[in-house]
Amino acid sequence: MFKFIIEEAKNILEKDPAAKSLFEVVFCYPSLKALFYHKLSRKLYINKKYTLSRIISQRTRKKTGIEIHPGAKIGRNLFIDHGMGVVIGETAEVGNNVTMYHGVTLGGIGGEPDTRRHPIVEDDVMIGAGAKILGPITIGKGTKIGANAVVLKDVPPYATVVGIPGKVIKINKNII
Ligand SMILES: CC(C)(COP(=O)(O)OP(=O)(O)OC[C@H]1O[C@@H](n2cnc3c(N)ncnc32)[C@H](O)[C@@H]1OP(=O)(O)O)[C@@H](O)C(=O)NCCC(=O)NCCS
Repeated sequence: MFKFIIEEAKNILEKDPAAKSLFEVVFCYPSLKALFYHKLSRKLYINKKYTLSRIISQRTRKKTGIEIHPGAKIGRNLFIDHGMGVVIGETAEVGNNVTMYHGVTLGGIGGEPDTRRHPIVEDDVMIGAGAKILGPITIGKGTKIGANAVVLKDVPPYATVVGIPGKVIKINKNII
């Protein structure tokens, strides 16, 4: 766990110009707290201790404003800047090195059957403040989702998506 905290804290220090020291990140960043407790709650969820896992995730939500369902699969080096109002649903999957800001939802559309209901977010994606990504869709690697976009369809890799409903406005061909 110590190794996990240091690795995630170093990632935040690298990505956030406002962070001045590892000490500050460890003690002040809700992202780190939320990921730490998600690791615990996910272990409980996998071992079918569903209620206990939810108690941990709901207490974490109270402290950080970040609600990650214990069923959600989270990769390495996720950075949730500011935290408040973030919701990551039970069947969501987040790849490595993803950054998201406050107010992001990885949610369901509502009324889906009991299968995968939430998005898959591939590696290196940036999700702007207030963006909602809804349904069992896939956000391709390296994509940027603009602040306040509402994304309802699959997005190809290295795209930029803005608006409601979210539309691809460019694909960064230099990276592909
Ligand atoms: C979308 C975003 C990633 C910019 O991507 P980009 O590839 O650099 O795109 P550009 O800045 O060149 O903008 C391209 C077009 O999209 C528009 N646009 C940019 N962001 C937008 C948004 N969030 N919603 C709607 N339109 C947006 C621009 O006005 C521009 O339109 P134009 O071509 O008609 O002039 C960025 O604007 C954004 O929303 N980042 C989120 C950052 C954030 O949430 N910060 C919170 C910090 S607390």
